[in-house]
Amino acid sequence: MIRSSIFTFFMAISATTTVLSAETSSTFSMIKPRAVQEQHIGEILARIESSGLKVAALKMTRLSQEQAKTFYKEHEGKPFFNALIEKMTSGPVVAMVIAGSGEEATVMRLRAIIGATNPEKAEPNTIRALFGKNVTENAIHASDSEESAKREMQFFFKPDEIF
Ligand code: CDP
Ligand code: MG
Repeated sequence: MIRSSIFTFFMAISATTTVLSAETSSTFSMIKPRAVQEQHIGEILARIESSGLKVAALKMTRLSQEQAKTFYKEHEGKPFFNALIEKMTSGPVVAMVIAGSGEEATVMRLRAIIGATNPEKAEPNTIRALFGKNVTENAIHASDSEESAKREMQFFFKPDEIF
């Protein structure tokens, strides 16, 4: 009797965990300094929210040189690296965790909403097509995989700051 209720208890926990992980996922995103300076925070958040995705964490902060270099470490040594660090530290950014439910992973959903890296090549109506100035100042960052999403959200937020 006790053994069977313990079994039922663990089955219930594992079923709940499976359902949660299948239905919700999250990604990291950051509005870049130029878009903040040009007062596009509201419009960018509106586009994300009206797509059905949710804001799960939000913070305005200014990156130090060291933080920007660590965040973009994978691009160190590339021709655009120094300009990227200069622009990313030129003013405050808005960091956020974006959560979604549904079959398609939130990482990919947000990447589709923001558009291609180069705003000139970004699909019409994407955030980068609308608010990006050039390839470096392309309005917004969004994680490119589940692994980078996890690392990048931990870079900016403590667990109790993500809702
Ligand atoms: O941001 P995304 O994942 O689309 O592109 P990335 O290849 O990971 O590059 C990171 C950031 O570096 C871009 O968002 C651009 O701001 C910048 N970049 C650049 O300035 N020039 C390039 N040729 C490529 C990237
Ligand atoms: Mg990237």
